[in-house]
Amino acid sequence: MYFVANWKMFGSIKSVNSLKKVISYSKIKKRKLNIIYCPPYTLIKSFLDKTKNSNIKIGAQDCHSHSKYGPFTGAVSSKMIKDLGCEFVIIGHSETRTINNNKKINLKIQAALSEKLNVIFCIGEKLIEKKNNKTKSVLKKQLLEGLKNINNLNNIIIAYEPVWSIGSGIIPTQNDLTKNIKFIKDTLKISKNNTKSKILYGGSVNPKNIKNLMRINNINGFLIGGASTNEKIFIDIMKKSIN
Ligand code: PGA
Repeated sequence: MYFVANWKMFGSIKSVNSLKKVISYSKIKKRKLNIIYCPPYTLIKSFLDKTKNSNIKIGAQDCHSHSKYGPFTGAVSSKMIKDLGCEFVIIGHSETRTINNNKKINLKIQAALSEKLNVIFCIGEKLIEKKNNKTKSVLKKQLLEGLKNINNLNNIIIAYEPVWSIGSGIIPTQNDLTKNIKFIKDTLKISKNNTKSKILYGGSVNPKNIKNLMRINNINGFLIGGASTNEKIFIDIMKKSIN
């Protein structure tokens, strides 16, 4: 199971201290958890140093579509992220989709893969799209356009995050989530002949709903925002996913 902590634009240098308990927790051998922290760029180096002797991996929250260096003020490339020591990068999160279309996201994924980063590729429908029964067509378009010209999905993890569920405390019904995850799996099978891709769920995951979410077929883990910035709550989620 994957537990990806997406810290968004939160955290100060002191926050690195809040990794202590998670690091100890990650060392308990019998639990096969893949814990990945995605702090803001400013904290990546501190997080990498702090987690050096643990199984915790570090990722960035986005990258530029140009993979190397260039005159792009304020931007960070996949080469730079890799150079720091990151192994992962989140691409296509809904909070970044306001300035990135599917085509741009596709270029970013290619840029990340060219630097041998693992990609956490986020897709998900907005509330209005859900209400208009457009969920499947939106997911399909995001998948096909986001993965255009990419045939090897070995280093891509899909994160299904309904936009209306992010930060709202509301999660999809068991039935909807099961259906949408299956739809994602089927789409990848038909379009990419891929049956192995890991699929995460993200959106308001917390210690109260984790047990129910664990019952959904084919979920390989979770992308967790708010609840991941508090180490006690984050550990609680991981513990409850097992018991
Ligand atoms: P949330 O965020 O857990 O705070 O809803 C999830 C995400 O945006 O990845």
